[in-house]
Order: sequence, then structure tokens, then C-alpha cells
Amino acid sequence: MAKKYTDRKLSARYPTDLPAWKKLAEHYRNDMRKTHLRDLFARDKKRALKFELRSGDLLLDYSRNHLTSATRKMLAQLARQSDIPAAIEAMFAGEKINKTEGRAVLHVALRAKIADTVALETPGVSEVWEVLTKMESFVDQVHGGAIKGSTGKKLTDIVNIGIGGSDLGPVMASRALRTYWKDGMRFHSVSNIDGTQLDDLTRELDPETTLFVVCSKTFTTLETMTNANAARAWVIDQLDELAVQYHFVAASTNHAAMDDFGIRSDFRFGFWDWVGGRYSLWSAVGLSLALVVGMDTFKALLSGGRRMDMHFRQSPLDENMPVLLALIGIWYNNFFGAQSQAILPYDNRLDRFPAYLQQLQMESSGKSVRMDGKPVRCNTGMIIWGEAGNNAQHSFYQLLHQGTRLVPVDFLLPATSPLSTANCLAQAEALMDGTGDADVEPYRVHVGNRPSNTIHYESVTPEVLGQLIALYEHKVFVEGVIWGIDSFDQWGVELGKKLANARLST
Ligand code: F6P
Repeated sequence: MAKKYTDRKLSARYPTDLPAWKKLAEHYRNDMRKTHLRDLFARDKKRALKFELRSGDLLLDYSRNHLTSATRKMLAQLARQSDIPAAIEAMFAGEKINKTEGRAVLHVALRAKIADTVALETPGVSEVWEVLTKMESFVDQVHGGAIKGSTGKKLTDIVNIGIGGSDLGPVMASRALRTYWKDGMRFHSVSNIDGTQLDDLTRELDPETTLFVVCSKTFTTLETMTNANAARAWVIDQLDELAVQYHFVAASTNHAAMDDFGIRSDFRFGFWDWVGGRYSLWSAVGLSLALVVGMDTFKALLSGGRRMDMHFRQSPLDENMPVLLALIGIWYNNFFGAQSQAILPYDNRLDRFPAYLQQLQMESSGKSVRMDGKPVRCNTGMIIWGEAGNNAQHSFYQLLHQGTRLVPVDFLLPATSPLSTANCLAQAEALMDGTGDADVEPYRVHVGNRPSNTIHYESVTPEVLGQLIALYEHKVFVEGVIWGIDSFDQWGVELGKKLANARLST
């Protein structure tokens, strides 16, 4: 029987004892630590062309990084020596790579076609397409008016109630896909526990045309259940008890809890334990989004994700965009000592993308214990932060340009606005080149030498958004495999929840 990826034995000092890790450490000390990015460009006129990579609708320009062809080769060796190809196959095969929770990790199955045969034998996977069909029928009936509110009015205002992955995905994607909203449909969200979001919304919403989508994998999350119960009380107060059946739908894996809440069986949409919260936008958690943008757009998002999955699974390591992004991240994190990374979309439609990536990356990579229970031997997840481009220029770019810390940047750049393009590329250039040795007062000097990636795309279509999300999902996975951690659990959030519950029950 073939050896399982999850049975891999990590040496005591893994990954720092891998030959490629040692070579990279030496390469950093001897060749790269003191080399200015300007010099890398001066040495090689074709650099810009040599360090770009296309995948589907995305073009990654990674030329403004502290790396050479030799670095790239060593990084690819690191990926190979860390068993990345085996890890990728283990994920697609449905192996239980979320070891501490004993679960497979199959968000890739949510956007696959049946013919792709992704882990079809894993319980639940063959139901993916039934749920999609059920979602489609529901969405179409809401749009067509066959499913109405309790007083017979069309449902037009969709309120997503959820938190974490059950909120950030639908919120980020609904903003990104604003131009795809169906006429008359509107998206709203409620996540925080302080009651203010629901209070604001109920002042402006008509209960007769409002549909609440309660999203919670567990259907026990304190914030979500508090908000769902408050929304339920509002509906009962404004309409009547019976109206709950018309104005609430749910996406969850917990059918008993949906029963208790009073969600009717045709208004509930299931998913499976192998869908992590931060990977759940692709599942029924995407229902609120689908209700606003329509099922065709939702399916186009899935197909964008699938496109990146195929690239990830099939491309060689040194031409594999998620692998490359992960390796560049590791290069700065573990060799240059960078503590944080900024995500800067020059695209206001992606203004919540940094927040989305915060959960994806920090919940996945904020670990200090390896899969085998031993302490990790190097730093893991960086602090992720960011903001839409030009707004950020006028707030925190000062630190990026002249601060003492190294902050590698990912710029996301659509081709739709010449103004954004000029600003984004000017910033990338300023970060890299600085002002040279110009004879100016010290406080005016930009030393430059600050690295960035730029991800170019035409515009945020659903396909492009799907590719972008999947790109970062796989990037996070690859980093986790190299560090030897479980990227798919989140035990660190449990203690705070327990203590809050204890305080609330006294
Ligand atoms: O507490 C963290 C977390 O479990 C996230 O992983 C998850 O996305 C969020 O809470 C919401 O969980 P649920 O969908 O079960 O309500």
C-alpha cells in the first residue's frame, strides 16, 4: 500500500534541517542580504520577463523581489523536499490532512466537476451537486417570485447572519461582484454580537421583503445564534410566528439545531465537516451571495476556483503560482525575518479582500505546534493586513516606505483604471528603487529595496475572483506543509469562547 502523506515523519529539526533550507540560509547570508533590488534589475535587463508567471486570468509579476534564478531553484527544492507534490495529491484524494480534527480538506471538491472525480468516495462529496441544484432552484424561485415572503411580497433584501468564514466570504464577494447584483436585489450582513448592525438594518428594512440567511457550520456560534434569535424576534414582532418559516433559510452542517430554530427542510442547505469555515464560501455558505448575484455568477466563481485548482495540481513546482507565492512568503518570513505582509488591492471592489485573507492566513497559519505534536522549529504565519490601494497610500504607506520594518507587499491590480494602474506601479517602483543616493536631507531619503508582488488581472469578474481566492487558499496550504503544521484546524480560538460562555453563565 502506498505511504500516506499524513504518515510522514518529521525530523526533530524539520524543516530547518532540510538541505534546501540550509542552502537558502547560506544564500541569504552570502548573496542576498545586502543586494539592493535595483542592482538585480541593473544586472539583468530581462529580469521583468524572467520573473513573471501566468495562470488563467492572472499574471503574477514577482520581479521586484529579493530573488534570482538561483533562489527560485533553491525554493523549488525546498518545496520538493517538503513533500509538496504528495501533500497536494493527498488533499485532492480526500486524505485526512486536517489531522487534529481527523478530517479531509475538500473545499476543492465544492468547485470540481463530477468528471474530475475529486475524492468521490469521501462521504458527502457525491452530494455536492445535489446541494448546488437545490440552491439553484431556490435562488431562481426567489428571483422569479415563486418563493415569497409571508405576506406575498417579493423577497429582495438578503441579510447574511454569520461570523468568521460564514460572514467574511459572502461579504467580501458580494462587494467584489457589486456589478453582478440582480436588479432589485440587495445584500446586507450581520456578524458582530453587540446588536448594532441588526439595529441599523431593522430601521431601514421592510420585514415583508427581507430574507435572513443564517450561516453557521456548527449552528452553535454565540454571535450568530444571538443575532439569528434577535432577527427572529423582530420578524415575529413585525409579522407573526408563522412568518419565521418564510423569512429564514440556513446553511449549516447541524440539522438538529436547524430543526430547533424552525428552519423548514426545503429552506436548509447542508454542507460537510470537510469544509472548513474559512473555506466555506464555495459551499451553501455562498447562498446569500448567490441570492444577490444569481446562480450563473456563483457558478462562474466556482469555475474560477476550479481553474486555479487544476493549475495547482498540474503545474511543476517552479511554475506553480500558489507554490511560488508561498515560497516567496517563506523566503521573507523565515530568512529575512519579516513579521507582516500587506495586501493592497488597487481595486475598491476588493476592499474586504485583506480582511478575508486575514482569516484565511492567520487562522490557518497561526500555529506553534507541528502535526506530530512537537513544537515548530521556525516562525509560522505572518501578520496579514491591508486596505484598498489609494486609501492606504494616504494612511499607512509612510511606514512601508520609510519605516524600519520589512513589509513585503502583494498588490492586486486590475486593468480597468489607468489612475489606479499609475498609482500602484508608482508605489511598487518607489518601494523598490527609492530615491537612490540623491543628496537630500536624511528625512527625505527613500532607501527603497522593499519587495512586492503584483497580481494583474483585467477586472474582478466572478472567474477572476474565484482564481484569486483559490490562489491564496493553496498558498496558505503550501506554507503549512513546509512548516509541518495543520493549516486546517483552529484550536486557538476555543479558550476565549469557553471563558466568554463561562462569564455569561454566571
Ligand atoms: O471561532 C472561529 C470559527 O470557528 C471560524 O473558524 C469560523 O469561520 C467561525 O468561527 C464561524 O463558525 P460557524 O460557521 O460554525 O458559526
